[in-house]
Amino acid sequence: MANYHSNVQDYYSKELKSTYDLKTSACCTKGSTPHSIKSILKDIHPDVQAKYYGCGLVFPPKLENCKVLDLGCGSGRDVYILSRLVGPQGFVVGVDMTKEQIDVARQHIDYHMKKFNYKESNVKFIEGKIENLTALGINENFFDVVVSNCVINLTPDKKAVINEVWKVLKPGGEFYFSDVYADQTISEDLRNNKILWGECLSGAIKWEDLVLYATEAGFTTPRLVTAQQIDITNDDLKKLVGTPVYFSKILFFTIFFSHFSGNIRFVSATFRLFKIPLNEAEINIPYLLTYESGIPDFEDAFLFDNTITFKRGELVSCGPTLASAVLNSRYRDNFTFEPIDNTKQYDGQIVIVEEQKERPVFLKYATCQMLMFKARRLASSLMEYRT
Ligand SMILES: C[S@@+](CC[C@H](N)C(=O)[O-])C[C@H]1O[C@@H](n2cnc3c(N)ncnc32)[C@H](O)[C@@H]1O
Repeated sequence: MANYHSNVQDYYSKELKSTYDLKTSACCTKGSTPHSIKSILKDIHPDVQAKYYGCGLVFPPKLENCKVLDLGCGSGRDVYILSRLVGPQGFVVGVDMTKEQIDVARQHIDYHMKKFNYKESNVKFIEGKIENLTALGINENFFDVVVSNCVINLTPDKKAVINEVWKVLKPGGEFYFSDVYADQTISEDLRNNKILWGECLSGAIKWEDLVLYATEAGFTTPRLVTAQQIDITNDDLKKLVGTPVYFSKILFFTIFFSHFSGNIRFVSATFRLFKIPLNEAEINIPYLLTYESGIPDFEDAFLFDNTITFKRGELVSCGPTLASAVLNSRYRDNFTFEPIDNTKQYDGQIVIVEEQKERPVFLKYATCQMLMFKARRLASSLMEYRT
């Protein structure tokens, strides 16, 4: 495709006028929305909501007073929800390269300021590309949290975006984002299809690439929070990508069929990554962490990712990477912690959390397939749970 950026700008200004024009469920949030977000949504202007094309929920907890950046904010739905969540002392910046989308977002600044009873607005919208945030005047080491909703798949240079996120986050900051993933390399033909790319499919991120780019940039290993299946209902698009076969309970057959049938499996998934400070010296050993509560909406248990839940008062043994992620982040104050002393007797039962270890290259492929499999399984179990 000659120019990915201008094709995407065309798609999100001329082709799509509202959520109803989408041809797949890729840019479409499915599943249940928490009550706290639903009540904020009531205050979001209908014109802003009509042009929402996100694929997940990008609202990690404990955002009050935070500075948050939304990459590819579109018409600003998530920016305005975040504006409410960070409160009047917090600040939210949205960046998007499509003028028509940014214009809709900007037109509703006053509306939301009044709705939220703020004396002055706490949001700002910048028109520009997310591959070079510092060129847009965005400061390095500035944001507590960076979010993004169904955008990184649309950029041809995903590595550049992840590197930029690392730069603009404060040490210990969190990158929390939903996006579209594919289980195999997508052919040049499909990548050149303007509709498939615009619908967030043929630019889908490969699992291997996420893990590679994130760890190379200096982030902790990405932690999968949640995942959803993507349905392709449009017959023309279905013919192009094939109808994938799923054996959600038999990993071997799932991998075998996906690779030899040529059919691509897509999921949307939400990951959280943490920027570890460069001078990190303190945490290179396992720690014992105890969640003490205090994270809003997670009084009894903090759902960290799809496998780890810190229950209030429970002693959890964490490897250095996980301990480092939690203890350098804004969640630190919600935990008590101490280095694990193998000679000491601890009161109470200790829960051991499995940490992903660095694997040799030949095993990385299997790790990523496993991640994809886990996301699919998570997606289908969540669907079963909801129905
Ligand atoms: C699928 S929409 C999602 C919009 C928004 N996050 C939402 O949830 O409604 C993708 C958005 O990303 C923007 N975008 C895609 N690539 C971009 C890039 N390289 N730089 C800036 N914005 C980009 C598009 O203009 C579009 O508004």
